Amino acid sequence: MSAEQELPPLKIMIPENVIDNRIKELAEQITKDYRGKDPLVVCILKGAMFFTVDLMKEMDNLGLDTELDTMEISSYNKETESSRNPKIVKDLSMDISGRNVLIIEDIIDTGWSLNTLHNMLSTRGPESIKICTLVSKSERREVDVPVDYIGFEIENKWVEGKGMDTKQKGRGHPFIGSRG
Ligand code: IMP
Ligand code: MG
Repeated sequence: MSAEQELPPLKIMIPENVIDNRIKELAEQITKDYRGKDPLVVCILKGAMFFTVDLMKEMDNLGLDTELDTMEISSYNKETESSRNPKIVKDLSMDISGRNVLIIEDIIDTGWSLNTLHNMLSTRGPESIKICTLVSKSERREVDVPVDYIGFEIENKWVEGKGMDTKQKGRGHPFIGSRG
């Protein structure tokens, strides 16, 4: 039996059109807030890739040009349990000193990944740092994260799609789904 067959069936939690509309709303808000501030978008690989692309296209439509850098952090020592000690797998390639940094994340769960990242980037002299996440499971938070933009608040369920994975699979679903 393959790994896929062992997973419970996938149910759509947030459909594609609802996600698309919410991303448009977020882009409008961010565009207002960052007008004239030359933002540097930091996409947290791999999960936030899909959300970042959509958000940057919408911001561009609204006339906000953004620069892009990427960073990868590993949050898990097991497949679905936070290690609470995230490690940098790939650092930024750009200097963020004096920049208005907008971190884009797929989902915030315990908060350890973004808490660590926020502290680390704060030491590099940026003008500002804000955080935008597509999904937040706020009831799971163990450490504080200053989140400025949240696409969706969800209950404590494992989700996949729109960049988020279950054992590295499912990132390409255009919707957000849950199993069980
Ligand atoms: P945190 O450090 O516990 O906040 O975990 C954040 C990271 O865990 C996210 O960037 C995701 O990569 C991953 N993650 C947390 N919950 C889920 C989920 O329900 N589905 C997929 N990935 C998740
Ligand atoms: Mg992630």
